[in-house]
Amino acid sequence: MSDIKKIKNEFLHKLNADLNIESINQIKSELFGKKGKISNSFKNLGSLPTEERKKFASDLNFVKDELQEKINKKIQELEIKEINSKLENEKVDVTLPERNIVQGKIHPVSQVIDEISCIFSEIGFSVEEGPDVENEHYNFTALNTPDNHPARDMHDTFYLNDKKELLLRTHTSPVQVRTMLKGKPPFKIIAPGRTYRSDSDQTHAPMFHQVEGLHIDKYINMGHLKGCLNYFIKSFFEVDKIKMRFRPSHFPFTEPSAEVDIGYELKDGKIVIGEGDKWLEILGCGMVHPNVLKNVKINPDKYQGYAFGIGIDRLAMLKYGINDLRAFFETDYRWLNHFGFDPLDVPSNYRGLSR
Ligand code: PHE
Repeated sequence: MSDIKKIKNEFLHKLNADLNIESINQIKSELFGKKGKISNSFKNLGSLPTEERKKFASDLNFVKDELQEKINKKIQELEIKEINSKLENEKVDVTLPERNIVQGKIHPVSQVIDEISCIFSEIGFSVEEGPDVENEHYNFTALNTPDNHPARDMHDTFYLNDKKELLLRTHTSPVQVRTMLKGKPPFKIIAPGRTYRSDSDQTHAPMFHQVEGLHIDKYINMGHLKGCLNYFIKSFFEVDKIKMRFRPSHFPFTEPSAEVDIGYELKDGKIVIGEGDKWLEILGCGMVHPNVLKNVKINPDKYQGYAFGIGIDRLAMLKYGINDLRAFFETDYRWLNHFGFDPLDVPSNYRGLSR
């Protein structure tokens, strides 16, 4: 019997035995390793007479492929066997009590966004979204803030290209424009989301959150705005009485414009909303400027309405007694564990917003 045949028979015999991954790897190296039988046979090729060399090489290749195939098949079989036995043995008993499970928490900002959405949905607002990366048209021009308008500088904008066409939105107001371009009045929406300005200290972060509100219909006036905000702030802080004051202000996209402060007092180092004689600014608002309506092809003689922009992070700090804004964005697990919320306690209007 030729050497090649001998090798083949020897190893086919070995491969028919009961093997595991280690013994297969052993066989593999005996055959194809540096000093393996097949590798050695190839080395001997040179010493053969020319007429025998061709046949020998072809026979050897043939056997090599056959053995290789057999080995691969064996490995595959073993892997399938292993998976099947794992599946059979690893049973999950879902009726067992939980053990040492680390439970995740809902971030206060997410919680507050859910609370706000609940409150506004109760009085007919739906929720809209817009992109964080905006173009300057939606962020400024369409909102009656043309080139060279001083309000553009006041926003400390992060521009994303040299031409200043793309930017990180500096407020959620561009969602007003996007919403109105998409549909026909009336509109009654809120739009919570991230906003960005190049600013950072204890009360300012380069990324923060706002919720935009927009209500456009035929007979909407400033009284509706006041009523809506009054209802919102009372519901949000879960109190029956609040002190609220409208201060004249200026935004290019509203006329008249106002900033709203809420009254509070410090009792034993804690903020109590609705009492006392201290004031805290929490939002900007006003009646949507006719130019903004014209920019989205709405006739300002027929339709009008109000808009507001509330700082979400500040509301969360006030309601949950958090005194440094920067902690929101530090992803410190201990902080989240303390200030975070149970994921199963979703805020709802009928059961309560926070507990
Ligand atoms: N976009 C304004 C800001 O970020 C807030 C605002 C929204 C004011 C809507 C009026 C109306 O400061």
